[in-house]
Amino acid sequence: MKRFLLTLICSALLAGAAFAQSSSPTGHRASGAAHAARAAHNSHATGDNNEWWKHAVIYEIYPRSFGDTRGRGFGDLNGITKHLDYLQDLGVDAIWISPAYPSPQVDFGYDISDYVNIAPEYGTLADFDRLVAEAKQRHIRIIMDLVLNHTSDKHKWFLESKSSRTNPKRDWYMWHDGKGPDGTQPPSNWQSVFAHSAWEWAPRTKQFYYHMFYKEQPDLNWSNPKVRKAMYDVARFWMDRGVAGFRLDAITTLFEDPNLHDDPVKPGTNEFGDPNIEHKYTDQLPGVHDVLRELRAVINEYPGRVLIGETYLPNVQELAKMYGANNDELQLPMDTQVGFINKLSVPEFRQKINDAETQLNGNMPLFVFDNHDNRRSWDRYGDGSHNDQIARIIATMLLAPHDTALMFQGQELGMQNTDPKRREDVKDPIGRTGWPKEKGRDGERTPMQWNAGKNAGFSMGASTWLPIAPNYKQVNAAVEAKDPNSILNFYKALIRLRRENAALRDGDFALLNESDNNVLSFLRHSSDGKAVVVAMNFTATEQKVSFDLKPKGISATGATVLLSSFAKAGESGDLGNVNLPAYGVYIAEVR
Ligand code: NOJ
Repeated sequence: MKRFLLTLICSALLAGAAFAQSSSPTGHRASGAAHAARAAHNSHATGDNNEWWKHAVIYEIYPRSFGDTRGRGFGDLNGITKHLDYLQDLGVDAIWISPAYPSPQVDFGYDISDYVNIAPEYGTLADFDRLVAEAKQRHIRIIMDLVLNHTSDKHKWFLESKSSRTNPKRDWYMWHDGKGPDGTQPPSNWQSVFAHSAWEWAPRTKQFYYHMFYKEQPDLNWSNPKVRKAMYDVARFWMDRGVAGFRLDAITTLFEDPNLHDDPVKPGTNEFGDPNIEHKYTDQLPGVHDVLRELRAVINEYPGRVLIGETYLPNVQELAKMYGANNDELQLPMDTQVGFINKLSVPEFRQKINDAETQLNGNMPLFVFDNHDNRRSWDRYGDGSHNDQIARIIATMLLAPHDTALMFQGQELGMQNTDPKRREDVKDPIGRTGWPKEKGRDGERTPMQWNAGKNAGFSMGASTWLPIAPNYKQVNAAVEAKDPNSILNFYKALIRLRRENAALRDGDFALLNESDNNVLSFLRHSSDGKAVVVAMNFTATEQKVSFDLKPKGISATGATVLLSSFAKAGESGDLGNVNLPAYGVYIAEVR
């Protein structure tokens, strides 16, 4: 998937409103102080609780790997409900649940066969309602994954569509005649990002259908107003059940060139042995923006709802367009520029974070380093010997700038990839097709590590659908909760700080020491005069840094540590002389 995303980059490109409005603390388990802080966060940080998603921390849950309450070796909805206290304690504002709809599970839920139900193996709509209600008690909102680009080939719409050329649902999907004398050659050279031709021959009606992903995921025809209406009604169905918004899957690929131009071919072949191509005619076509404006109008029917986009784009200018020319499209398109630099380079992070803060027309950036499609950041950024320290740097880059933060289950524990060793063990189909160059996405999807017990506390079953990572006895939520120096406690402290400190929550952002290529530093500065310096040493050697804040209008020269990977909170020091140990993180309030 990682390569899919990069290929695309290169190519072009509670019930009802209740929860979205101010929620009552009835039954809420946190302390009064914590509740007050959360309430302050919601009102102060946003000025308007309908904009709760600004500065929020959103946590992605991959339901198959989060918590198994039935002992079958894979997770379920009740397994999410069971762990809500943990999520509340971590400090998350919302959870995005990867698809839990009925599905043949070819793409583990991203092939949906019924958009208005819950997969029986994951639970029921009643379980879902209970999850929404229990989450609400803990001030956690639920965001659904909405897969608009394609359905499962077992969805009733597609079953009808493929049944005959004259079926009323025929034009809900992308059907075309083939080329060649007998019409059996694909209509164009378009490739699936999951390998080989994007066209699949359907013998019954003797035409091809288009699929950007697996052949079991036929693309919908978004030029058809009936498709649009049906999907907008799906969104209303879930908002009526209390969801706070949607993460829009593969949103840039809704449209294809109606003239079926061949995509430009580039030198070389990809991990599947196919020629490299530029997805010029299948990604980022302008119609996407029309749909996003319509969908935004639909969610605007309900207060406080948010649209998050899966937007792997080549640069910040393209990203800026996803908010809409009149800020009427996505509120939170994912900024994959920052999180997927994939090397610890101060100049590159400086540039990309600053771009997000300055080039998005004042819109809120959404930073993300980890998800279920990419190798974990622990592996991508780690140097093999300082990975835990580097994990704290990643946490800081995610949570200390002026942004909304999107994290993935287990990131807060320092979970790492556990990739399959043999092709026959691979569950993700692209890993079997692309083996050994592409091993698929199993490695980042292994079960959540809750404790040092059986199956890491994930399942009481005899086995689990993907293996438990071998390091689970040390790297797990229970062990880390007790260790004040754990990655988990660093995340918790930073999330709390971000909520409680006005400068870190919604203060301005300004780079510091811009010619230093070893230490990335910036200032957060709130209108009430509070200022916080954030500095991260990207090297394995000690770095001495000095901050002069006069050019920023701040005459103070001292600072008190708020959070650091090496110094105690409360320690005071001189900003002219800060020593950062290898990969050290320093967050201090200017005094
Ligand atoms: C992006 C999702 O994150 C990924 O897991 C899925 O395979 C594709 N879209 C297709 O839905």
